Amino acid sequence: MAKVPQGVGPKNPQVVVLIGATGDLARRRLLPGLFHLCRTGFIPACRIVGLGLDALDADGFRKLAREALAQFSTRPVADADWTKFAASLDYVPQKVGAAVLKAAVTKAEKALGGDGRRMHYLSVPPNAALSSVRLLAEAELVERAGIIMEKPFGTDLASAVSLNAKLHDVFAEEQIFRIDHFLGKEPAQNILAFRFANGLFEPIWNRNFIDHVQIDVPETLGLDRRAAYYEDIGAYRDMVVTHLFQILGFMAMEPPTALEPAPISEEKNKVFRSMVPIDPRDVVRGQYAGYREEPGVDPESDTETFIALKCHIDNWRWAGVPFFLRTGKKMAEGQRIISIAFREPPKSMFPPGSGVGAQGPDHLTFDLADASKVSLSFYGKRPGPGMRLDKQSLQFAMHETGLMGDVLEAYERLILDAMRGDHTLFTTADGIEQLWRVSQPLLDAPPPVRLYAPGSWGPKSVHQLVAPHAWRLPFEREWRDPNRASA
Ligand code: BG6
Repeated sequence: MAKVPQGVGPKNPQVVVLIGATGDLARRRLLPGLFHLCRTGFIPACRIVGLGLDALDADGFRKLAREALAQFSTRPVADADWTKFAASLDYVPQKVGAAVLKAAVTKAEKALGGDGRRMHYLSVPPNAALSSVRLLAEAELVERAGIIMEKPFGTDLASAVSLNAKLHDVFAEEQIFRIDHFLGKEPAQNILAFRFANGLFEPIWNRNFIDHVQIDVPETLGLDRRAAYYEDIGAYRDMVVTHLFQILGFMAMEPPTALEPAPISEEKNKVFRSMVPIDPRDVVRGQYAGYREEPGVDPESDTETFIALKCHIDNWRWAGVPFFLRTGKKMAEGQRIISIAFREPPKSMFPPGSGVGAQGPDHLTFDLADASKVSLSFYGKRPGPGMRLDKQSLQFAMHETGLMGDVLEAYERLILDAMRGDHTLFTTADGIEQLWRVSQPLLDAPPPVRLYAPGSWGPKSVHQLVAPHAWRLPFEREWRDPNRASA
C-alpha cells in the first residue's frame, strides 16, 4: 500500500453527508473512493451519512456499499478494513426530512469527538440540486461545512446563473466545490506539469507550430441504470460542456502566475472567454441505434448519445487552430486522449515515395487513463539502404515507473482537496457560466441526431467534420507494450 505523506489529509474529523447515496455515481466511485481514503489514513477520522430515495436502514445501506465495493473497487477490500468502514456508515431515507438528517449528523459528530467538519456531497441530477441545498439549510448543516456539487451545473446559462444565485443564499462561495472529476485525473494535472515545468514544449505550444488538436473520449459504456438522468441531459451537457471543455482549458491556457485557485481559474476563464460561440454547423449529434428502446427512454427521444464538434479559441496563441472534440456512448473503444498535431515541414527534400508525411503529421498524444501515457511521434529513417521514412515514437507509460500504487483516482483526489479547503482543481461559477454562454447557439438550434451503430465510431458525417484531417482514433499503431520483446 502507498505511504500516506504527512499533511495531505484534512486536519479535522469529517462527517460526509452523501446525497444520492444509492445512485450510480455513489456506487461506482464515491463509496469505493471514500473507503480507500479512510482505509489508507488519508482521511484520519470520518463518518458517512447516506441520504437517498431508497427506503433503506443503515444495515441495508451497508449491504449496498459492500456490493458496490465488490463490484467497483479497483483495489482489494480486506475484511478488517471493511468492518471498520461499515461501522462508520449510516443512512437516512430522503423523505424522512430535515430533523432526522440533523439527528443522524449530530450522532456522527458525537462519535467522532469535537471540532468536526461537514462535507456535503450532492450526487444528484441538476433538477434536484436546489431541493437538496434547501434540505441542508433546514437541517441547519451549513456551518462548518463544505458542499461538493456534481456536474452539470445547470442545463443552460439561465439555469446556471439562477442556481448560483440561490446557492449563494445558503452557502458562501468559499464553501462551494463545483466538481469536474476530469480535473482530478492524474494525467490532467500532468498536462500542467508537462507544459509549465519544462522549457521544451511551451515555445512550440501555439498556432505557429500546432496544426490542430483533438480531445477524444469515446466510451464503450451504455446507459447502465442512468436513463432517467441521461435522457434529460445528453452527451453535450454530460461530457462536453463539463469535462472536455475543462481539459481544453488546461491544454490551452496561458501560464498561471501561481499554482493556486485564483490564478489557475483566471487563465482557464480567459480561454473560455476567447472561445468562439459554437456554430451548430460545426457539430455532429448522434444517437446509437436501439437507444429509443432502452427502458426509461422516450420512444421518440432526440437526446444525443454522441457528439463531435469543432471549436475555436480566438486569441493570440490559438487563432486559426481548430479544436476537435468527440465523445459518445456505446462506441467502438473506450479511450480518453488529447492529441496535438504539429505542422508539417514547409518543404521536403525527401524523394517521392520515401514515406515522409505518409502517416500523418507528428503528434504529441496524452492518454488520460489512470495508467497515463504520453507519446511523441515523428518520422525517422527505416534501417537499411536508401532513405525510407517511418513513423516512430518516444513513449512514456506511468505503469513502467513502479508508482501506479500511488495514483489516487480522480474523485479521491478531489474529495480530499475539498476537505482541505483547496479549490485549485474545482471549477468556478464564472467559468461555467461562460461555457454555457458559448454553448447557447448550439442549445438554441441543435442539428438533428443521426443514428450510429453501437460499437462504431459515430455517424459517418464525423469524418467530414475533421476533413482534410483525420481522427487519430482508432490508432493506426498501438501503444508500445513494455512486456513485448522486440524482434
Ligand atoms: C461522467 C459522465 O461524468 O463521466 C459519464 O456522467 C461518463 O457519462 C463518465 O461515463 C466518464 O468518466 P471516466 O472517469 O470513466 O472517464
